[in-house]
Amino acid sequence: MNILIDNELKADILVVDDIPDNVRVLSTILLKQGYHVRKAISGKMALMAIRTTIPDLILLDINMPDMSGYQVCQELRNDRRTAQIPVIFLSALDDVLDKVKAFQVGGADYVTKPFQIEEVLARIQHQLTIQDLQTQLHVQNEQLRQALDHLKTTQAQLIQKEKLIGLGQFVAGIAHEFNNPVNFIAGNLSPAGDYIQDLLKLIKLYQTEYPQPTPAIQQVINEIDLDFLLCDLKKLFGSMQTGVERICAIILALRIFSHLDESDIKPVNVHHGLDSTLLLLNHRLTIQVTTSATTSIKVVKHYGNLPIVTCYARQLNQVFFNLLSNAIDALEVASQHYKQVAYEPTLWIETKVIDRDMIQISIKDNGLGIPEAIRARLFEPFFTTKSVGQGTGLGLPTSYQIVVGKHGGTLTYHTASEGTEFQIVIPARSPQES
Ligand SMILES: Nc1ncnc2c1ncn2[C@@H]1O[C@H](COP(=O)(O)OP(=O)(O)O)[C@@H](O)[C@H]1O
Ligand SMILES: [Mg+2]
Repeated sequence: MNILIDNELKADILVVDDIPDNVRVLSTILLKQGYHVRKAISGKMALMAIRTTIPDLILLDINMPDMSGYQVCQELRNDRRTAQIPVIFLSALDDVLDKVKAFQVGGADYVTKPFQIEEVLARIQHQLTIQDLQTQLHVQNEQLRQALDHLKTTQAQLIQKEKLIGLGQFVAGIAHEFNNPVNFIAGNLSPAGDYIQDLLKLIKLYQTEYPQPTPAIQQVINEIDLDFLLCDLKKLFGSMQTGVERICAIILALRIFSHLDESDIKPVNVHHGLDSTLLLLNHRLTIQVTTSATTSIKVVKHYGNLPIVTCYARQLNQVFFNLLSNAIDALEVASQHYKQVAYEPTLWIETKVIDRDMIQISIKDNGLGIPEAIRARLFEPFFTTKSVGQGTGLGLPTSYQIVVGKHGGTLTYHTASEGTEFQIVIPARSPQES
């Protein structure tokens, strides 16, 4: 009745009984069936054998001196490594077999002596099948869990993408509405300043030509505190000018952020884009370390043999600009930090072809890295760790939108206390074009 299938034939069974004859009889039968059999004639021996090599199943005598089968089983259940091994209890018919106890201590089944061979084999096979199914179930559960995890991540990414696209449209609207009125102010501020200068000139002329004003005029001069007014007017104009410039810069950043639908796909040399962006940032490559000392950022380029890339060229340059600016910001901070130590702020720019149709551009710095605590918020619009006027918090979300949203690429980073590397991967041909 050798109906067992191949993998079950190899199952490793431990037979535990204090009566050697019993062990011999059982193991002969099991060996004939193709099982691997190990033997133990006491509870202690059994535990040792089990811990050395975990068996697939244990036939365990209940009545043994020193340590009963129940105790052995209980010990097995208390150890994570052995808790799952199926145990079939062996008991003499005249034993007062406490079946309830057998199951309570974690037994899977029991058979009574003298053995009915067919029954023993059937019960063994039954337990092995259950064990096998359980393993399969466990594997499937694990696969399911992984699939669910994957789904959750994808969903989170989708939501993030959705948010950014929605925000892009919203920001485009705001930038558009603000642009005109701000331009009125910006455009009129300078002629208004000129007019005021003219009026001041006129007042001064009055003062020299008519040094003795009438009492009514003198009273107004006192009331408005003319000297203070003249002095304050200048300052006031200065700060209005600064304020307007800042608003214009923010609006420009917002427009760049939201102008993601301009169709200017064209074939370009990415290296030209990188070089011209670096040129724009040239003035920032010299860092003021102390009031008297400066240091230069070393730029190391490893340009690969890239094909001409069809992309939204201007926007891609914007990404280079954002990432390079961030790297320079980080190098500035690090230079301040390492003031006393020998430190060479360095920027690495590397390009290469990965896969057939994908290119990778990486921008790396040896700054201080990105603290763990803020990593989750990095791509959040308006999230910045920089002081007012220095950072807008739009650099990374804009870059993400351009690389992922517009080019179907990926924007990832690696960071450690030795620095940060951002990697852009995009197809050499834009999705819209191909
Ligand atoms: N290379 C980098 N090294 C360290 N921190 C960085 C780097 N790039 C970005 N960051 C962090 O990410 C934040 C968001 O960057 P970004 O969106 O470009 O906005 P901003 O530069 O205006 O702050 C920065 O404020 C900074 O804390
Ligand atoms: Mg930035």
